[in-house]
Amino acid sequence: MFKKNELLRAAGEKVAMTPEQLQEYLKCKRNIFHFAKYFTITAEDGIHPIKLRGYQQRLLKAIITKVPGKNNRIIMMGRQSGKTTIATLYITWYALFHPAKVIAILANKAAQADEIMFRIQAAYTDLPMWLQKGIIKWNQSEFILENKTRVFSAASSSSSIRGKTVDLELVDEFAHLDDKSAEAFMASVFPTQISRSDAMLLLISTPKGFNHFYDIWNKAKLNRNTFIPCKVQWWEIDGRDEKFKEMIVRNYGIKHFNQEYACLTGDQKITVKDDYGKVITAPIKEIFDYMAEEKALQNK
Ligand SMILES: Nc1ncnc2c1ncn2[C@@H]1O[C@H](COP(=O)(O)OP(=O)(O)OP(=O)(O)O)[C@@H](O)[C@H]1O
Ligand SMILES: [Mg+2]
Repeated sequence: MFKKNELLRAAGEKVAMTPEQLQEYLKCKRNIFHFAKYFTITAEDGIHPIKLRGYQQRLLKAIITKVPGKNNRIIMMGRQSGKTTIATLYITWYALFHPAKVIAILANKAAQADEIMFRIQAAYTDLPMWLQKGIIKWNQSEFILENKTRVFSAASSSSSIRGKTVDLELVDEFAHLDDKSAEAFMASVFPTQISRSDAMLLLISTPKGFNHFYDIWNKAKLNRNTFIPCKVQWWEIDGRDEKFKEMIVRNYGIKHFNQEYACLTGDQKITVKDDYGKVITAPIKEIFDYMAEEKALQNK
C-alpha cells in the first residue's frame, strides 16, 4: 500500500500472482489492446473498462506500429471524440511496461495537463495490484514508478520541459496553443525532440485554421517530416450522423460544425464536381458561396 492508499502498490511491496495472473500480465505487456480490458474511463454511464471504438483501435495501432524515420504522430479529430482518452491509455501502458522512460503530458495550461494526469492516475488506481508497478512518487502533476519511469504534467510553455530528454511527449490540443507559446515551444522543444529516432512526440488536436498544427499536418501528409498523420472523420464517431450534424448546424452554424467536428476550415481546399460535371478545386468557403449562388439561380 502506498502512503495509506489501499488501491496503490508501494515500491518494494510484494504481490503474489497466480499462474493465470502472470499469463494476463504478460499478455497486457505484449498487447495494448489486451491491456485495455483493465483500463477504466469515466464515461456517460459511469466508470468502467474502456470498450475501444473502431477508430480508437485504428489510432492506437497507428501509434504503436513502429515505422522507420517516422517516430512522431499527429492526430486530427473533432471535439469530444475520445482523443485525450486514447492518449491516457497509451501513456499508462507505455509507463507500466517501459522502464526508465520520461513521459511529459503537456497542454496549453498546467491545469489542463493536470486534468489528463488525473485521468491517468484514476485509471492506474483501478488496475489490479498484480498489474501495477510499485509507486515511488505520486502527486497531482507527477508520478514515478518502481521501474524508474517518470510521468509529469506541465504547461507547454513551462520551463520544466526545456532541454529535457523526454521519451514520450504528448501535447494535447496542440492547435489551440496561442501563436506565441507555439512558436516558443517549436523553437525550444521541437529541434531536439523530433530529431530523436527513439522518442515520440504525440500531437493530438482539433484543428484551428491555418496555424502551426495545420503546418505540421500538411507536411506530414506530404511526407516531408517525421510525423505520421491520422485523421478520424466526424461520422466515424458513435451517434454522429446527419441528424447530429443538423442539430449542431442549427444551434451553432456550419462554420462551427466544420471547425469543431469535421476538422475543416473555410480556407481548406476541396475538390468537388458540380451538377454539370465540372470539377472545381477551391477553398470550402468559395464552394459554399458558389453552391448558394447556383441554388439561388435555380430558384429564380
Ligand atoms: N470507447 C469509449 N467508450 C465510451 N466512452 C468513451 C470512449 N472513449 C472516450 N469516451 C468518453 O467520451 C468522453 C470524451 O472523451 P475525451 O475527453 O477523450 O474526448 P476529447 O476528444 O479529448 O474531448 P475534447 O474535445 O473535449 O477534448 C469522455 O467522457 C470519455 O470517457
Ligand atoms: Mg481532450
